[in-house]
Amino acid sequence: MTPRRVLLIVSGGIAAYKSLELVRLLAKAGMAVTCVLTEGGARFVTALSLQALSGEAVHTDLWSLTGESEMGHIALSRSADLVVVAPASADLLARMAAGLASDLATTLLLATDTAVLVAPAMNVRMWTHPATVGNLATLAARGVAVVGPDEGVMACNEFGPGRLAEPPAILAAILARLDARPGDGAGRLAAAPAHGPDHGPDGRALAGRHALVTAGPTHEAIDPVRYLANRSSGRQGTAIAEALAALGARVTLVSGPTALPDPPGVDVRRVESARQMLAACEAALPADVVVCAAAVGDWRAAEVAAHKMKKTPDAAPPTLVLVANPDILATLARPGASRPPLVVGFAAETQDLERHAVAKRLRKGCDWIVANDVGAHTGTMGGDSNTVLLVTAHGTEAWDRMPKHEVARRLALRIADALAEAPPAG
Ligand SMILES: Cc1cc2nc3c(=O)[nH]c(=O)nc-3n(C[C@H](O)[C@H](O)[C@H](O)COP(=O)(O)O)c2cc1C
Repeated sequence: MTPRRVLLIVSGGIAAYKSLELVRLLAKAGMAVTCVLTEGGARFVTALSLQALSGEAVHTDLWSLTGESEMGHIALSRSADLVVVAPASADLLARMAAGLASDLATTLLLATDTAVLVAPAMNVRMWTHPATVGNLATLAARGVAVVGPDEGVMACNEFGPGRLAEPPAILAAILARLDARPGDGAGRLAAAPAHGPDHGPDGRALAGRHALVTAGPTHEAIDPVRYLANRSSGRQGTAIAEALAALGARVTLVSGPTALPDPPGVDVRRVESARQMLAACEAALPADVVVCAAAVGDWRAAEVAAHKMKKTPDAAPPTLVLVANPDILATLARPGASRPPLVVGFAAETQDLERHAVAKRLRKGCDWIVANDVGAHTGTMGGDSNTVLLVTAHGTEAWDRMPKHEVARRLALRIADALAEAPPAG
């Protein structure tokens, strides 16, 4: 049997030394490894070490590939079952996101039709910089898988996320990625549809896809009979779940308390609080897309009284101390192996809609924001229609006012379009 082949790109970071261990583990697991070393990578490890461990020539230069007259770099990019970038420097991730082909590594990454897995490694501030967050989101939306980074003390003595995932964890991610697509050319991306999103095993655009949707308000208990809530009816999120199911997706709807019936063909998980909603979402992963339409309470009572709080004559009313709830959208959008390729958030604002929505997209690390004006005059909260802005990395689109089920249908079609080229979530 021909061994499965990994094209390993080693870029410039202090963690590049761990790529040597990764090559050793891959070889031990019976895989063939072709290494590509970037100019930055060559400052940290030598081609000779990679060559000795992989037993194959190491490629460093776009212009010296033998057989370049026969498009050697194209052949190299397609000869593998999986392309792995470990470590992936901030610089290389930025160049990938921008679609540059300025050296051998980026040319291969742009020319390949093979699935790509990146293992980022960098200083914590580089990792949390909006530029890197945005680049990761762009790559994830294109179907690039991410492993790590880990959290811990860094070479620069700072603490936080940014350490390269350990080589055994990268190996596990590689095996999972390869095993998800058995057979010859296992890691190749599905070809883009010739026309429109009308494809998939049963002919529907989202057949074979898993969509996770949140809807409704959350209820944050104060005591056994009182809670903090908001005016969300859950209609928009539930309509989105229905519209995604109509396009053939397997849909999990995590819904806060609403008066709506379960949409047919949708797996509905009812929750009350933000923390329950996050746990239900995480349990439902992996997903190809998550749409966070729920109006999640930002705060909850610091302490929930075990018994109904009593009104005592002449005593001052109690003071409610609040603490922050987990940020579900930001958590699901965080780069990592379980991040869905497409993460869509909702922004409910009462003023300065577009500015807040653009900022929210970057702050949360999600791919799209659907922003709606929920000021009392609009009748959006609890009503049947909605006026939304769709904010993506490419700009903002203003949609006309339309029924919520039509907003849902259009959004589902856009999601199908966006996922057309991404491999199904593992
Ligand atoms: C000592 C040193 C350590 C570095 N470590 C990292 C790192 O861990 N992660 C990173 O993204 N960049 C790091 N850099 C910066 C990259 O090496 C630099 O962006 C380089 O251009 C990346 O090259 P490449 O994209 O060709 O791999 C480091 C630079 C130096 C000088």
